[in-house]
Amino acid sequence: MFAYSNNDYYCEQVPLADLAHETGTPAYVYSSQAILANYGAYEEAFGDLPHTVCYAVKANSSLAVLALLAKAGAGFDIVSGGELYRVLQAGGDPAKVVFSGVGKTAAEVEDALANGIHSFNCESEAELALIDAKAARVGKKAGFSIRVNPDVDAATHPYISTGLSQHKFGIAIADAAGVYERSKQFRNLVAEGVSCHIGSQILDPSPILEAVDKVLALAEALRAQGHPIRHLDLGGGLGVAYHAGETSPEIRGFVDALTSRLRASGLAAMIEPGRSIVGQAGVLVTRVLYRKKNGDKEFLIVDAAMNDLIRPSLYRAHHEILPLRKNTLPTMKVDVVGPVCETGDFLARDREMANAMPGDYLAVCTAGAYGFVQSCNYNSRPRLPEILVEGDRWRVIRERESYADLVRGETI
Ligand code: LLP
Repeated sequence: MFAYSNNDYYCEQVPLADLAHETGTPAYVYSSQAILANYGAYEEAFGDLPHTVCYAVKANSSLAVLALLAKAGAGFDIVSGGELYRVLQAGGDPAKVVFSGVGKTAAEVEDALANGIHSFNCESEAELALIDAKAARVGKKAGFSIRVNPDVDAATHPYISTGLSQHKFGIAIADAAGVYERSKQFRNLVAEGVSCHIGSQILDPSPILEAVDKVLALAEALRAQGHPIRHLDLGGGLGVAYHAGETSPEIRGFVDALTSRLRASGLAAMIEPGRSIVGQAGVLVTRVLYRKKNGDKEFLIVDAAMNDLIRPSLYRAHHEILPLRKNTLPTMKVDVVGPVCETGDFLARDREMANAMPGDYLAVCTAGAYGFVQSCNYNSRPRLPEILVEGDRWRVIRERESYADLVRGETI
């Protein structure tokens, strides 16, 4: 949904340079068609196998994005009370919400029960006890899955790999059956499922499939022991192409591999994709402020910074950077950096890219997932606006923060 037509870079039918001129920069821009196409690819691939696609809210939690997905029928994977609030504000169906995360608070559990979410993905026995007690108090039965840690290496960046026994996540698969057995003492819990999530930005899905095989075997053993397991929650994790020339793994082929494993079991599928739905549906538009040389090194100083998109600084993540208007000048090799006072403030390093001059607009690509949501106000920089494109129209779905927003809630 992002492509050049003649020399202009478009999101759907909107030339981004014109949009940037009107909205100012930096700004996040999302393609509604791309979001819906990716969600639709999951839905279509699951076909008639009973399933719920629970979009991982953490990837991009803007109300308009959630509302698009809610309207299309999506469920949601949340990790906090704040995310539940957003889902409800956006018109999401609480009955299709799963609540993940290692550190749910008592207040968050109460809130989730009061709103009638589908189930909790639990990560410890103490958490099971808490949910049972809270459910008892309101006279409800709470559905739960144990998030098992299958000890599978996701082969992704260490900060976003979660499925090894050294990680804080889940309960070791070898211990899980015992935990389910002991959970029978909890009168207000129902063992609805088994869940796992081994990491994010996984380009070769084979580790996910390996984890699924392990979790499926566990689910079948649990059913044989009389647990009413109805679904497998396979987590998220499918990666997207960040480099030019790389191709994203096909959602269809990935889901086919999952459904072929699940079909005979009679279990329903849940899945929690985040990045593969919104990652390629967004860009960060920025403008060149200055170009300068320090010795042999050349810097392109742009108006977006690490506080707006932290992925390059935090994970050494690669994002392609393209001019919104192509030129015929020779390419250049630069560090693309922002105004923040940190050496770690860069969007690209030693990047051979299209020539750009002060005033030119650039798109930092594949920024729809874990972009705005991980942004902050460091250096007292107001957070960016977000714009949603729908065909030949666009609208501001979040206003640019003002200086007054920066100090809201503070007192002297
Ligand atoms: N389910 C659970 C339990 C998760 O922890 C995550 C992501 C997802 C689903 C969604 O995974 P996805 O489909 O988006 O890969 N900030 C990092 C990514 C952190 C992912 C955390 N968990 C980044 O910018 O790459």
